[in-house]
Amino acid sequence: MAGRERKSRVLANSEMPPMPVHGTTRTELAIFREIMRRDDRCIPYSKFMEISLYGADGYYASGRARIGGESGTRRDFSTSPEVSMYFGAAISSGLSGLWDHMGRPGRFSVVELGAGNGTLALDILSYATAIRPDFFKSLDYTIVEISGGLATVQEERLQEFRGKIRWVSGSAVKMPVSNVCGAILSNELIDAFPVEVVTTVKGETAQKYVAIEDNNWVEQWRLPTQAVLKHIDRHNLEVKEGKETAVNLLAERFQRRADDALERGAILTIDYKDLGESGSITAVRCSMGVASRRMGGYAMQYWFPGEVDITSDVDFEALKRVATEDGLKVAFTGSQGRLLDWLGLYDRHLEIMHDRKSGGYFADFALNEMRRYGPTSLEEFSDYNALLMLKGIDDAGIEYMRRLRQDLRTERRD
Ligand SMILES: C[S@@+](CC[C@H](N)C(=O)[O-])C[C@H]1O[C@@H](n2cnc3c(N)ncnc32)[C@H](O)[C@@H]1O
Repeated sequence: MAGRERKSRVLANSEMPPMPVHGTTRTELAIFREIMRRDDRCIPYSKFMEISLYGADGYYASGRARIGGESGTRRDFSTSPEVSMYFGAAISSGLSGLWDHMGRPGRFSVVELGAGNGTLALDILSYATAIRPDFFKSLDYTIVEISGGLATVQEERLQEFRGKIRWVSGSAVKMPVSNVCGAILSNELIDAFPVEVVTTVKGETAQKYVAIEDNNWVEQWRLPTQAVLKHIDRHNLEVKEGKETAVNLLAERFQRRADDALERGAILTIDYKDLGESGSITAVRCSMGVASRRMGGYAMQYWFPGEVDITSDVDFEALKRVATEDGLKVAFTGSQGRLLDWLGLYDRHLEIMHDRKSGGYFADFALNEMRRYGPTSLEEFSDYNALLMLKGIDDAGIEYMRRLRQDLRTERRD
């Protein structure tokens, strides 16, 4: 009972211009029902985000999400693989090095979580076919995808690799794979997990709830749940007056399950860097292409629930802490730009150019497939964060992932 009284106390409302509840979309209705079902007539922010993104007609569940794409077509946001094929080439090369070090097992599984348009998978597999055909033969690729719409886009995109890939429909948080010998990868996945949002109100830590008053959306600050307080404490989050911080409880659960699902190999996670001052994780931003820039991102989620993407920065320190507790070793931590350098981004470029010239696999790529331009186009993502963790691999494995060009490497090893 005491816990319940604590929870229902409203400390303050957050300041927002009036944003009316239109009651016109299925997502809006689902949120409305969820609020009315509760004694407190409010839902934690994570529930709002969950229904908006993953409810029956939510942004991801409905397949409404538009990632990357040709200029002139509707797109909500872009990602590294959509910008350049060299992102996937560098990762593929790193994985092939790991495979070498693991003694070239007959089966090396790559599990990609949240694969968007399937572009990263396409680039990883294309690079392997062209440059490391021996590695390609052992590769077995699984995509775990929550969006039925995007899974269809992926299947179309990856037709030439049918037979190499299997799809598992479901949430990466539940980690519906096990005994992985190889690698578990994700790019811009964890930022989409529903988060709680916290701040400090007059000296007290407070958690965001969403309610409806006079037919407008309102955000209320209430006392946090025990789980949220425990997370803040465990990960030393700085919760400041006037600043909103994300508490990603699912990220921790996800990391534990990934650590468990990996039998031997690597977990590579790339996502938004914490842009705030140290210790604070930028809470929430929304995107829906040009419209969000015009209207101011944050309000979009209330104007168009279910129509926009909602993301938060990722607390990489927390992921690292959990994985280390689970016995994994940090092989690389730092910016995406540094990771790609480390994986020999420019060597990959030379390899692919050489393959094109000598009439190899990449020569067959239509020119617009070179899209997705040269390695320098990845600069806009260079301050994203990357975390590479290894399990059951000794330190020499790390060196194997950093490869020179194929021809140089062969000379070096001989
Ligand atoms: C921002 S997009 C990134 C797509 C891709 N990784 C890329 O870099 O282009 C997020 C992707 O994760 C998927 N997704 C979001 N939440 C998920 C979850 N809980 N489990 C599995 N997939 C999820 C989305 O459907 C989408 O494919």
